[in-house]
Amino acid sequence: MHKSVMDIVEKKKTGQKISVITAYDYTIASLCDKAGIDVLLVGDSAGMVMLGYDNTIPVTMEHMIMFTEAVSRARQNALLVADMPFMSYQVSTSEAIANAGRLIKAGADAVKLEGGRAIAQTVSAIVETGIPVMGHIGFQPQTTTLAQGYRVQGKTAAAAGSLMDDAKALEDAGVFALVLEMVTSEASKAISRAVLIPTIGIGSGRFCDGQVLVAHDMLGMYDKIKPKFAKRYLALSDQITKAVSKYRSDVELGRFPAKKNWFTMDRSELDKLRKIDG
Ligand code: KIV
Repeated sequence: MHKSVMDIVEKKKTGQKISVITAYDYTIASLCDKAGIDVLLVGDSAGMVMLGYDNTIPVTMEHMIMFTEAVSRARQNALLVADMPFMSYQVSTSEAIANAGRLIKAGADAVKLEGGRAIAQTVSAIVETGIPVMGHIGFQPQTTTLAQGYRVQGKTAAAAGSLMDDAKALEDAGVFALVLEMVTSEASKAISRAVLIPTIGIGSGRFCDGQVLVAHDMLGMYDKIKPKFAKRYLALSDQITKAVSKYRSDVELGRFPAKKNWFTMDRSELDKLRKIDG
């Protein structure tokens, strides 16, 4: 049986940290799940790391459904949360509920929406249908980039206070957990103390109740943007490029395939073939 939303909420109550990682495809999701991660997040960062867009804005519901289905085929233990893409929940509450439902039908256990007080009503409408929601405040890739570019959030007391109001409004609206992205460590600490739901930080310091990283960042597979907060546990892009270039030269020099990589016929069949061949 995989983890539930309640298992994640319980971790904060018992003082255990929560581990979250993004996953978009069957293979990486299987490996992350096997590693015992608490939550697999099908983030709309897929638009950048899987589809090559410059940001998450072009991501559609169809993309998110395909990635969510792939991850759900791999998941055995973790909770599976899927991002609602840009403009899938802003137009109307009924559209937001319908789109959240499509992600649940694709295999997600919960959905994640970016936004603070302004989306509290939408969040509460989705929660009332029985779909668990994870919030996401601080830097919001779908919209903060449009208005301000990449900027650390909560740098002044007033900005931290505003984030606190967002966090409380979302908690009241029923979110079970809250992502804090690129929020100063001091503001994250204050928010994490003020709410009962777990906070999940990305670039937001060590006082959050859990941490999330984009898998491609921590595995060193995506070199276009290298955020300061994303610890690299591997340098896979170098290793993959080296391996593929070795394969290319093996093919060019006739070193691949070798005898152990091909299949042969039985001797009697070979004799018959030689007769046909002349
Ligand atoms: O899309 C994503 O990967 C995310 C994480 C950065 C939290 O929302």
